[in-house]
Amino acid sequence: MKSLMVTGGAGFIGSNFVHYWLEQYPDDRIVVVDALTYAGNRDNLSGVTANANLRFEHADINDTERMQQLLRDEVIDTIVHFAAESHVDRSIEGPDAFVTTNVLGTHSLLKAARQVWLIEGDGDGNPLAGHRFHHVSTDEVYGSLEPDDPAFTERTAYAPNSPYSASKAASDFLVRAYHHTYGLDVTTSNCSNNYGPYHFPEKLIPLVILNILHGKALPIYGDGKNIRDWLYVEDHAYGIDLVIRQGKVGETYNIGGCNEWTNIDIVQLVCKLIDQRFDADENLAQRFPDSPAANGTTSNTLIEFVRDRAGHDFRYAIDASFSENELGYAPRVTFEEGIERTIDWYLANESWWQAVMDGSYQAWIETNYKAA
Ligand code: NAD
Ligand code: DAU
Repeated sequence: MKSLMVTGGAGFIGSNFVHYWLEQYPDDRIVVVDALTYAGNRDNLSGVTANANLRFEHADINDTERMQQLLRDEVIDTIVHFAAESHVDRSIEGPDAFVTTNVLGTHSLLKAARQVWLIEGDGDGNPLAGHRFHHVSTDEVYGSLEPDDPAFTERTAYAPNSPYSASKAASDFLVRAYHHTYGLDVTTSNCSNNYGPYHFPEKLIPLVILNILHGKALPIYGDGKNIRDWLYVEDHAYGIDLVIRQGKVGETYNIGGCNEWTNIDIVQLVCKLIDQRFDADENLAQRFPDSPAANGTTSNTLIEFVRDRAGHDFRYAIDASFSENELGYAPRVTFEEGIERTIDWYLANESWWQAVMDGSYQAWIETNYKAA
């Protein structure tokens, strides 16, 4: 039985991980630590809040003392560290929060783990047996690929291009250093673009789904030819599970979807799938009267090419063969299935996204769209 601290567990991937883990390992205990920034949402955990093995702690990872106390009080043996500022566009407009949370916050957590697991240890001068600090990172630390470049492996040199990816790269290096210098048992996973339920609608796929339903423009940065490697979020949780259970301490594992799409193609696909749903269900036209499909036209008429993201990385692609060979990792949800599930989740969970679309979200969309 494990006792986990999941930082950022009220965010997109963290909350999906919590759902996944409680289903897989119902006897394990989870303490979610989340500062509930604009991206954190307790509703993401509403399906599991009654679970006696789950505790929610509204806290900032930069509060080192509090992190230490939680590690002691809850006898935590495993930290799964998701908490971060995660949106590239926000990092361009305001990089400070990214350094504060992603770099200093990760360091604060590492210091707490070192204090409780290594310095205090088992009380007899030994490190706490079986401890693990798992750090959740991104493929963006590797920089950008040209169309014919081989995909990123764990040995690809770091070349982060945005304040977001630079802050993640810095945090990866701190995690590595705490292993090599102090002997903290760490693992790191670098994953490609996730999509699925509870995805905050500032990111491409949920933004496009909700804008279609509201008849709003679909802003495509630049020429729409940039490429991302998409993975259903549950498969990211599965990959992290494999790393925690079978991964080698000190090692880094790439997790990806082997599923490259240009932005314009993925937006066209989402348009087509939503149009099909309107054709099949006349209630949708009543629920979303501003959507093009409710007005005899197609969703892709909303597409607008807008000013490119500054420093926009052209292509990401993960080579996950090391994780495949070492851990038996492979995505289990096909993209066809995952994207259908995702659209259906947004159609079925209007109350979730209506609540999310509060003042701060609207302000973000306004700024984003006007800047375009
Ligand atoms: P998200 O923005 O949806 O969630 C981040 C969560 O962290 C939120 O709940 C927020 O409240 C919390 N948080 C932020 N600052 C905090 C602080 N100081 N203390 C405590 N909690 C804090 O992010 P996400 O998309 O779920 O990403 C989770 C992690 O996965 C990040 O580390 C990100 O870099 C990484 N990642 C994301 C993707 C992706 O496609 N979204 C892909 C690869 C890796
Ligand atoms: O690769 C992993 C990364 O994926 C994670 O580390 C990040 O946390 C996560 O946000 C994501 O970063 P991206 O920048 O790739 O995701 P985003 O959804 O913001 O954008 C996906 C692509 O779509 C990117 O090329 C920019 C483009 N885009 C995005 C938005 C929001 C648009 O063309 N229009 C938009 O409105």
